[in-house]
Amino acid sequence: MENRTKEELQDSTMKVSSLNCIDLANDDLHHSVVSLKQACLDCGFFYVINHGINEDFMEDVFEQSKKFFALPLEEKMKVLRNEKHRGYTPVLDETLDPENQVTGDHKEGYYIGIEVPKDDPDWDKLFYGPNPWPDSDVLPKWRETMEKYHQEALRVSKDIARLLALALDLDVNYFDTQEMLGKPIATMRLLRYQGISDPSKGIYACGAHSDFGMMTLLATDGVMGLQICKDKNAKPQKWEYVPPIKGAFIVNLGDMLERWSNGFFKSTMHRVLGNGQERYSIPFFVEPNHECLVECLPTCKSESNVPKYPAIKCSTYLAQRYKETHADLSTYNQ
Ligand code: OGA
Ligand code: NI
Repeated sequence: MENRTKEELQDSTMKVSSLNCIDLANDDLHHSVVSLKQACLDCGFFYVINHGINEDFMEDVFEQSKKFFALPLEEKMKVLRNEKHRGYTPVLDETLDPENQVTGDHKEGYYIGIEVPKDDPDWDKLFYGPNPWPDSDVLPKWRETMEKYHQEALRVSKDIARLLALALDLDVNYFDTQEMLGKPIATMRLLRYQGISDPSKGIYACGAHSDFGMMTLLATDGVMGLQICKDKNAKPQKWEYVPPIKGAFIVNLGDMLERWSNGFFKSTMHRVLGNGQERYSIPFFVEPNHECLVECLPTCKSESNVPKYPAIKCSTYLAQRYKETHADLSTYNQ
């Protein structure tokens, strides 16, 4: 547990981070790539604006998300998370930072992945498959709204991936192949946070962690809460708030891209503190194809800079990370 004085705590929780902002409508590609690269080398967190997702539609998605969480627990448990990591995750289901947390995260969620139809040869792979959906009589238009958001967020992810490829000195379409983002694992997650966090007692809305995948596009309802720690080995750790910007995504790179880039691009530790206000957010986690071998990118190694991480299959890596952080499903059978 964190053992810090009140002053240290106050000092560290007041800081606000200033991040680079990538404008997807900017014609000056060179400028965007330079700015993105700088952000990726520094901490892997940046804003993305002019991504083309309509603000009214975003509000609609948040409205629908609120409607789901407002349902009675019994109704939500009908779509409890399954083995394919789809569906409802109750409060405390996930513990992202077991060393510093006395209970699980004070949040509940709903995972929605890529809908792979039953006649698809990849249907039985762990992270592909159908999604459970709340009853359309209970939540009309819910599924349509979420599926549309999933499609749009994936389109934005591919736009960002093109800039990432250029920032890594790769061909602009490097990540846009069937082996990578053509048939990706891409999972959106509706989240609702409640309660007050108290780091001195090990209580967090979302424990400190770095994301597992390639990158995450985060949309929030505007309530503060997200913090990043650029140097996890610093003592004491310095946490900075990432303020939401209306209409912008907060994008961060995940551990898979850090591995892929041989540690060149950073996946930074972050957490969420609750202040008693309800907070809704929607991370969109992007990973490549199930079968994609995540091994040092050709432009990130040299004789003097050999690959630091062994190659690993995307789905193997991801399955391990989910297992480490989520409650065993059998605990819900009792
Ligand atoms: C996550 C995460 C931040 C937020 O789900 O991995 O870091 O603001 N979420 O919800
Ligand atoms: Ni995260």
